[in-house]
Amino acid sequence: MNSVSSPFITRRKFLFAAASIAASVPIRPALALATGEHRIRVAPGQARLTGPDGPRTPVWAYDGTVPGPTLRLRQGRPARIIVENGLGEDTTVHWHGIRLPNAMDGVPGLTQPPIRPGENFVYEFTPPDAGTFWYHPHADSLVQLGRGLAGALIVEEAEPVAVDRELLWLLQDWRLTKDGQIAAGFGNMMDAAMSGRVGNVVTVNGAPPADLTVKAGERVRLRLANASLARIMALRFEGHRPVIVAIDGQPCDPHEPEGGRLVLAPAMRIDVVLDMQGDPGKRYAVIDEFYDGLAYSLTALAYDAGAPLRDHPLDAPLRLPANPLPAPDLAKAERHEIVLQGGMMGGGKLAGVGGMMSMAMPGMNGAAAWAINGMSMTGDGHAGMAPQFTLERGATCRLTMRNETAWWHPMHVHGFSLSVLSRNGSPVPHRQWQDTVLLAPKDTIECAFVADNPGDWMLHCHVADHRMAGLMTVFRVT
Ligand code: C2O
Ligand code: CU
Ligand code: CU
Repeated sequence: MNSVSSPFITRRKFLFAAASIAASVPIRPALALATGEHRIRVAPGQARLTGPDGPRTPVWAYDGTVPGPTLRLRQGRPARIIVENGLGEDTTVHWHGIRLPNAMDGVPGLTQPPIRPGENFVYEFTPPDAGTFWYHPHADSLVQLGRGLAGALIVEEAEPVAVDRELLWLLQDWRLTKDGQIAAGFGNMMDAAMSGRVGNVVTVNGAPPADLTVKAGERVRLRLANASLARIMALRFEGHRPVIVAIDGQPCDPHEPEGGRLVLAPAMRIDVVLDMQGDPGKRYAVIDEFYDGLAYSLTALAYDAGAPLRDHPLDAPLRLPANPLPAPDLAKAERHEIVLQGGMMGGGKLAGVGGMMSMAMPGMNGAAAWAINGMSMTGDGHAGMAPQFTLERGATCRLTMRNETAWWHPMHVHGFSLSVLSRNGSPVPHRQWQDTVLLAPKDTIECAFVADNPGDWMLHCHVADHRMAGLMTVFRVT
């Protein structure tokens, strides 16, 4: 059963209905910045999250837009990004999924000092992998991400991929009041100990989703990124058969998703290739059906009436060029286990948190509701977080993640991509690398990676409330 705890969930219908009135507004393409040196200013701004006639919502924005500008970098080419903090509080930027030097990872206290109001920080790294990534703050991140700070980061393949068009949908979930303001109550215990802050308005590239106009016969590469705090999505494309070509930026064997649903937990990305095989003039819904009884139509593919672009689907290979990921040596692997504990159980009881050792910092969001191996690190990352385990550089780590809780957790590891080996004892059907692995209640997942990148790295749940309330740890590569 996929349930949500949000008391606001009943209002979703109303807001989605309001959003669909604007159905003639095309999905806004995400703003793009060209490759090279970039400058990004973080500051308060305003957005129209429910459409051009809706209320203005005060947000926090990268370069004044929600989501922030899409950064386009080149694989293997150095990038330099200057981040200016125009907020009234500390921030940092984390380049989610990029394998980069530890000092560029953006975790305040752990990998860099926070960027104080009015100050800058220069991020420099060379992305080794092509793919779909994203960036977001790692300071006060429940509030900062929840107020809109997120953007896509695309690392382009050396050779362009053979498609007619490339699209990006950066998905965000907002909890808005009736007058379009971001609802207060970040970090309340109910969200923290249950499904996290699931909202009532979903945007695509910062605007209410509206029809996407397509042409029969065209081939589209669609990059999907879920930048929500907590909402898990399961997208179904009516009348279409999307083929997954990359997960979390990393190319995989092209395959159709199980049950035709693309499951995107917070922080996950999926690249699909869509051959537009529908009929000219027809409209096909894209449905998010993750939560039981709360399915809604996110958007639709609207075919123009013109003749098909081609008679047969494009006859070009779907496989993306491989990224230079080091192959785990499973025979010599060092085993480590991460057990996820806590959260609310039936009857409104917190599971076992009483006996946990809490490192809650005064003034940070609330108390611990979760733990990893009996220990709760709360907040956003700070100095003195003792590593859960230490790996020697170059070693293969075989990591078991075991979810003892009654809730879903997208577990994310910084600095590495994990080769996912098995789920609940069965090998996963397609070779896949992920930086964010979704664990259903009681799931056990085994993965492996080569510890080739020294530093202190975070491993946490990407449901922001869960991370802040204890589902976070650190490991070290010497
Ligand atoms: Cu998107 Cu700590 O990560
Ligand atoms: Cu990350
Ligand atoms: Cu979680």
